[in-house]
Amino acid sequence: MNKILIVGPSSQILGVRIAKELNVDYINTEFKTFPDGENYIRINVEDNNLIDGKEVIIVHSTGPSTSGNQNARIFELFMILDSVKRMKAKKIIVIIPYFAYARQDKIFRPGESIFGDLLIRFIDNMGIDELFVVDIHAPETLKDTYSRTVNIDSMRALADYIKSLGAKDIVVVAPDKGAVERSKAFAKHFGENIPVDFFEKKRDVTTGEITMSGKLSLKDKDVVISDDIIATGGTMATAIKLSKESGANRVYAVATHALLLQNAKYRILDAGADEIIGTDTIDNEAAKVSMAKTIANYLK
Ligand code: R5P
Repeated sequence: MNKILIVGPSSQILGVRIAKELNVDYINTEFKTFPDGENYIRINVEDNNLIDGKEVIIVHSTGPSTSGNQNARIFELFMILDSVKRMKAKKIIVIIPYFAYARQDKIFRPGESIFGDLLIRFIDNMGIDELFVVDIHAPETLKDTYSRTVNIDSMRALADYIKSLGAKDIVVVAPDKGAVERSKAFAKHFGENIPVDFFEKKRDVTTGEITMSGKLSLKDKDVVISDDIIATGGTMATAIKLSKESGANRVYAVATHALLLQNAKYRILDAGADEIIGTDTIDNEAAKVSMAKTIANYLK
């Protein structure tokens, strides 16, 4: 076989699923943190021939998990890229299901870095051929790369799952104005003329605190609140609370990347959500929707 897939530490479920969809050989990694804090990763091969002359697909989410934070995952990715190049991979395809730092996509306060953009440039400059991400926070950062870049859409897969739950009289709600276009695209997967509405969200750029307001026409509606990321759950929980105050029946808290940090799960359920739904770009209990088929279709 002339292809091999490397399953990264944060993509153990999704990586194996993609390999099975593609019917290609796959291999895992050994990884650890040295006592001084430095990261180590090794592709689990005993000789170079497994990589030499092959098309190598690396599935490596940069989401934080118990075995490493996003900085560790980024360094591991650099190390994997270095080692597959040393072992003479013929073609390198990188799949980063969750792309860390993507929310640092603009200058909010003087003196900041646009690190999400810089990280794309670093990876792009490492001699890769193709870069796939899923629902990246700022798709415009993928412009002007040497490698072919694709931002894979998670919406159909998420909508199919929500439909399977029997949701009816659906309204799609965006947690802020900036997410309206994304929510309109999402709503189309539920049928024609599905209403889309939004709450007004403001985030204090210094403290990070959010305030949200608005009353929508949601009486007896099943509400799908859709975002790209749930991090601490503050945005989602506030939107759920306002939806409930607006008369919503069932509320589905949906995000492509449900990181669910700190007490996010509690906040979201306590605010009145019926279900938290994410994808397997993040390996956790909210990953009810797999992106494996969708991603594999791009690689066939
Ligand atoms: C922000 O622009 C993102 O789309 C999400 O709304 C945000 O990252 C969610 O963060 P948190 O869950 O901490 O409110």
